[in-house]
Amino acid sequence: MGKDVIVACDFSSKAAVLGFLDRFKERKPFVKIGMELFYAEGPSIVRELKTRGHRIFLDLKLHDIPNTVMKAMRVLSDLDVDMCNLHAAGTSAMMEAALKGLTRADGTRPLLIAVTQLTSTDQRSMEKDLLIREPMDQVVMHYARTAKEAGLDGVVCSPLEAGKVHEICGADFLTVTPGVRFADGEAGDQKRIMTPTEARSIGSDYIVVGRPITAAADPVEAYGRCVKEFVG
Ligand code: C5P
Repeated sequence: MGKDVIVACDFSSKAAVLGFLDRFKERKPFVKIGMELFYAEGPSIVRELKTRGHRIFLDLKLHDIPNTVMKAMRVLSDLDVDMCNLHAAGTSAMMEAALKGLTRADGTRPLLIAVTQLTSTDQRSMEKDLLIREPMDQVVMHYARTAKEAGLDGVVCSPLEAGKVHEICGADFLTVTPGVRFADGEAGDQKRIMTPTEARSIGSDYIVVGRPITAAADPVEAYGRCVKEFVG
């Protein structure tokens, strides 16, 4: 399981995402399909990108009762995605059911990673709205440990948390980290950021990069630079 750059394809239509990906002639990037594109285009967009040779992280962040999540994961597994995710807040029972649903008859399955606390949730809103009073980093590490114990492959986290997640959950437990920016790039709305080089040295396994590539004047060059910095 090597390190890789996952390009966040945050587009609202098939035409836009295909127009973007058509530029990549040599290396087909590992892509992330999020809710916007999936809800706009449906499962056919996953099949289309798969046929074109892309590995796919389907970022739908499932969170429901275990039986519903199990059945939904069975559908995603049949779509042959490479990685999908859910909210660790759905509890161990939900995560175990998700794994069951994902596992195919031959024992293979997509990677399954957990969202711990969204980076849009801060200490104040966690305490006020969720009545969780522990410090944020302890909550994130607890969710990561619970995900590992449920049998999941890793977590989505800030690159700043990746080192600690590996310390607690082991080097093999995957850290998938958004919030990556080039040293000379725009931060935009991301606050806790790292460069691809820093994410590599802290031990992120996959970096999820959107606008630094999708909004670049030359996305293929930006992707190549990102891969060079992160993968080497
Ligand atoms: O454009 P940018 O590089 O900020 O894109 C980052 C991607 O990672 C987006 O698709 C965003 O929704 C996603 N993401 C994130 N922070 C999280 C979880 C997902 O930025 N905590």
